[in-house]
Amino acid sequence: MSDLKQAALAVRRNAHAPYSGFRVGAALRTASGNVYAGCNVENVSYPEGTCAEAGAIAAMVAAGEREIAEIYVVADSPVPVSPCGGCRQRIAEFARPDVRVTMATTRGAQRVATMGELLPGAFGADHFEV
Ligand code: THU
Repeated sequence: MSDLKQAALAVRRNAHAPYSGFRVGAALRTASGNVYAGCNVENVSYPEGTCAEAGAIAAMVAAGEREIAEIYVVADSPVPVSPCGGCRQRIAEFARPDVRVTMATTRGAQRVATMGELLPGAFGADHFEV
């Protein structure tokens, strides 16, 4: 876990968050043991901004990996930062329901939940045939 914490705290420093002032870092470990990190990247056209989790997932996929084993998200928030609804769906694309999601504050508070707890009844590929 501490390597994910370190990676998330480090990448958070690179967040581009001039509009909200809310810097977020995310780091994930894949099934193969590699770590990928991402930060939020805001835009003057507000809806075009992307979340830290989306950045970490993009880095993982760009590197040729697709299976999240664990994920850690950190922000300087009063309570542990909770992935937004869109990011829950993004994480669920690559994580089984038992995957551990750690939400943390820069001051050391932590909350741990599984992906299934964060997104019960998730829409998945089993809901349609391709
Ligand atoms: N944000 C994330 O990057 N991840 C989260 O889990 C929550 C919210 C970002 C989006 C936006 O840049 C800023 O935090 C404020 O909402």
